[in-house]
Amino acid sequence: MTDWAPDSWQGRAAAQQPTYPDPEAARRMVAEIGQLPPLVTSWEVEDLKTQLARAARGETFVLQGGDCAENFDDCRADSITAKLKILMQMSLVLVHGTRKQVVRIGRIAGQYAKPRSSDSEVRNGVSLPAYRGDLVNREAFTEEDRTPDPTLMLRAYERAGLTLNFIRALADGGFADLHHPEYWDISFASGARHHADYVRIVESIRESMNFMTAITGVDAEVLRRVDFFTSHEGLALYYEQAQTRRVPRREGWYNLSTHMPWIGMRTAQLDGAHVEFHRGIKNPLGIKIGPGMNPEWLVALVDALDPKREPGRITLIHRMGAGQVAAKLPVLVEAIQRTGRTVLWVCDPMHGNTETTPQGYKTRRFDKILSEVEESFAVHTELGSHLGGVHFEMTGEDVTECVGGARGLSEIDLERAYRTRVDPRLNYEQALELAMQVARGLRGR
Ligand code: PEP
Ligand code: CO
Repeated sequence: MTDWAPDSWQGRAAAQQPTYPDPEAARRMVAEIGQLPPLVTSWEVEDLKTQLARAARGETFVLQGGDCAENFDDCRADSITAKLKILMQMSLVLVHGTRKQVVRIGRIAGQYAKPRSSDSEVRNGVSLPAYRGDLVNREAFTEEDRTPDPTLMLRAYERAGLTLNFIRALADGGFADLHHPEYWDISFASGARHHADYVRIVESIRESMNFMTAITGVDAEVLRRVDFFTSHEGLALYYEQAQTRRVPRREGWYNLSTHMPWIGMRTAQLDGAHVEFHRGIKNPLGIKIGPGMNPEWLVALVDALDPKREPGRITLIHRMGAGQVAAKLPVLVEAIQRTGRTVLWVCDPMHGNTETTPQGYKTRRFDKILSEVEESFAVHTELGSHLGGVHFEMTGEDVTECVGGARGLSEIDLERAYRTRVDPRLNYEQALELAMQVARGLRGR
């Protein structure tokens, strides 16, 4: 690729970027981060691509999940452990439901930048730059805090490194007890309609693990490093550029800030900077697609980002909203089918189902989230296509941001522990229950 470079995006219109008061300082920061070691390696990136190719063919299933936006304060042992734990548990439940290996991908170790609907925020007649995530500026409503600060890119790189270091240590075995199903607490669902099914799922996972351990003599649940991957929205392009490099004995450029960046809904312009940047890196790429996507645009995007039709390269993450899937998704699936490509389809049932309560909380309803997943499975099956994964915003902690689930969280409960700075996440119980519901549905099909 001769007409591409890690900074060639700078010649295109770049949506959703901070305006740094001193662009030279931002460039210096990119150079500095570029000298630091990579957060992930090219062989891990290639391994994930291989696994995604398998998922696209229906051989494995993908679970992608984590915070809407990570923040620097949450770079703590308990919070990281809780996120890994819930992702592990959900993945085992999905193994049970799909009878396939599950590829686990966190929205983690780099999910520090957010697209915003407006560049500025006005409070009491004062207008300041919008908060764009900890990688860009600070949330407090003062001129100093909201002014984009390039040194925060370095802080983000460091936080991502600390997070990943701890994840790798946990994933290397120190963490084995968390997926012993006998320690799972599903008492929260004891009054719920499907409680007996949940108990059966946990029981069945426990039996499978005991069986594996008995016949192989190895702890079946021992996690290996390759079993956990990172992803984040490839949004703040100076940051993405900074860790993009060549590696010995491989062709091309790798963005080694994460295994899998994705292009968000608001930055998928064909001639825009985000498509330009991502077309040149070797990583597997996600593309979010919402109700505003059309077949021509989608096919052009996929052609631009994957001209060589490389297996595992493209994951299309649809987020249409419950009740919308049957109307919006088929034309897109059919358009991709007509190209003869095999892509990985993943359902994000979060971003099309956000609503605001009368009290002013942004929330999402458990039932709608589940419903969008079920509708998506049905549409793909109908079209002879294949839904190969799910994408959730969730946390391992006991927050109250989404409503519904076995505990019947209501809008009034949201006040208790509403902590997200951006989108509402499923809490530990809701996330586990959602995985169980999806597994129930899959086993029933
Ligand atoms: C997100 O994943 O947090 C997000 C902003 O999604 P989308 O681009 O699909 O709106
Ligand atoms: Co979000």
